[in-house]
Amino acid sequence: MQSRTILVSLVAAALALGFGTASAADGNAAAGKQKAAPCEACHGTDGNGIAPNYPALAGQYQDYLEQALHEYQAGDRGHSSPAISGRINAIMNGMAAPLTDQDIKDLAAYFSSLPSKLSDLHGKIQGGN
Ligand code: HEC
Repeated sequence: MQSRTILVSLVAAALALGFGTASAADGNAAAGKQKAAPCEACHGTDGNGIAPNYPALAGQYQDYLEQALHEYQAGDRGHSSPAISGRINAIMNGMAAPLTDQDIKDLAAYFSSLPSKLSDLHGKIQGGN
C-alpha cells in the first residue's frame, strides 16, 4: 500500500516536471512562429527564402535546422574553405548568437512544419536522370 502511494507520488512529480509534454522538450512550432519575425526578412514569411541565396527552411528536417543553428552559433558553419572566411558565417553567426537552445528547437519546429518546396535534382543534372 505504501509503495503504491510512493509510485503515485513519483508519477505525479514526473508529470509536474513536464515529462509527457514532449512538445516543450522537442520544440514548439507556435512559439517558434513568434520568434521567427527577424528570420523572415531573408528566409521569407513562407520559409522559402526571398531570393536564391537565402536557403529554404520550410519543410526541412527539424534536426538538420537545429544542427545548422548550433553550428552557426559555435562559429563552425561557414565557407567550406577556411582560407576564405574561416568557419564563421557573418550573417548567421550573428543571427544565431542570441538564441537559447529552446529558441533553436522552437524555430526549427516552426520552419520544418511549413509546407516544403524542396526538390531533388532529378532532371536537372546533365547526364543524370
Ligand atoms: C540577413 C539575412 C538573414 C537573416 C535575417 C536570417 N538568415 Fe538564416 N541564412 C541566411 C543566409 C545568407 C544563409 C546561408 C549561409 C551559408 O551559406 O551558410 C542562412 C542560412 C540559414 C540556415 C541553414 C540552412 C541550410 O540549409 O543550410 C538556417 C537553419 C537559418 N539560416 C536559420 C535562420 C533563423 C532561424 C533566422 C532567424 C533567427 C535566420 N536564419 C535569419 C540569411 C539570413
